[in-house]
Amino acid sequence: MKKLSFLFFLFILPFVALAQSDFKIAYGPYLQGMTEHEVTVVWTTTKDAVSWVELAPDDGSHFYAEERPRFYQTNFGKKEVGTLHKVKITGLQKATSYRYRIYSKEVTAFEPYFVGYGKVAASNVYRQNPYVFKTLDLSKPEMTFAMVNDIHENNELLGNLIKNVDLKEMDFILFNGDMVSNMFSEKQVFDGFVTQASKSFAAELPFFMARGNHETRGTFSNAYINYFPTPTGQPYYAFRQGPVFFIVLDGGEDKPDSDIEYHGLAAFDLYRENQINWLKETLESEAFKQAPIKIAVMHVPPIRSTWHGPIQVKKHFIPLLNAAGIDLMLSAHLHRHHFIPKGEEDCNFPILINSNKHIVRVQAKDKQITLHITDDTGKFVKEIKL
Ligand SMILES: [Fe+2]
Repeated sequence: MKKLSFLFFLFILPFVALAQSDFKIAYGPYLQGMTEHEVTVVWTTTKDAVSWVELAPDDGSHFYAEERPRFYQTNFGKKEVGTLHKVKITGLQKATSYRYRIYSKEVTAFEPYFVGYGKVAASNVYRQNPYVFKTLDLSKPEMTFAMVNDIHENNELLGNLIKNVDLKEMDFILFNGDMVSNMFSEKQVFDGFVTQASKSFAAELPFFMARGNHETRGTFSNAYINYFPTPTGQPYYAFRQGPVFFIVLDGGEDKPDSDIEYHGLAAFDLYRENQINWLKETLESEAFKQAPIKIAVMHVPPIRSTWHGPIQVKKHFIPLLNAAGIDLMLSAHLHRHHFIPKGEEDCNFPILINSNKHIVRVQAKDKQITLHITDDTGKFVKEIKL
């Protein structure tokens, strides 16, 4: 017996301690689904955990001046246990700054009548300040955001492009698809662009995603919505900031569903059909009609292509958008800059197709939209006023 105890301390205990010490925050946090009254904080841990966010007003008080309210990720009345953590914070005031800290408590045993806990990992509030975010404000007269697209996991390029904009004046960053070349693992998606975004801005400034055709590819692609949650639970959704109502569309893949490249797994015709019904409802909503400026976002441009996906999009989406009075469409996918003025290509609105090496700063004020384009070296490329 003594010999067994000796062996336990000599060989097994160090491994138990090592296993426990491996528990940490792996990726994130980053902000998703920001509105006037809520936001979702997303991060991952190296092992199963139960997680929460502590929230404090941005009022100059110490984070530990008092006990701060905790927000958990819950599902049908139970706190979630896992490695992906998405904590929705609700009940926020519009146009208001908040500070937050993330926590994860390792779950070492999860049995019907016993749950064991390990260490707690948290974001640092001692050597660095707590994270701060500001909620959206639909009533403000102007807003600014920046768009990048087709990064295809080139973090250096993403970093260089983001450096060209003043993040303090941004309401959010828009990623217009093909941020990765495919999705085959969580690590690849984070290494591809999310970690770069999280470190440079996304822990405090949200990014909104438009799914590109490359994000539909790979064994991990069905997990897309888990990492980039939207109000509709679909990759297509709508939101408003300041005077602008945004409709984020998803044209899906570009070839017919039966194409050999999709290996019998594509069902984008049905997906686009469901999206048409949602689009009709959205365009008929008071929230859409009352917004002074309307911008549609779609990775694959609905023009200059004789391929099945863009043809379907042009046939079904464009007549609805034309009738509704869209002011601008922001597209990507072609890796080259194109600007199609209003009235061309059967579209009653202009289309900016952004290059993969440019960042577009979009400013909307009253009824005017200004597009300011710079390249990855910071060099001015073009300014377009609409
Ligand atoms: Fe693309």
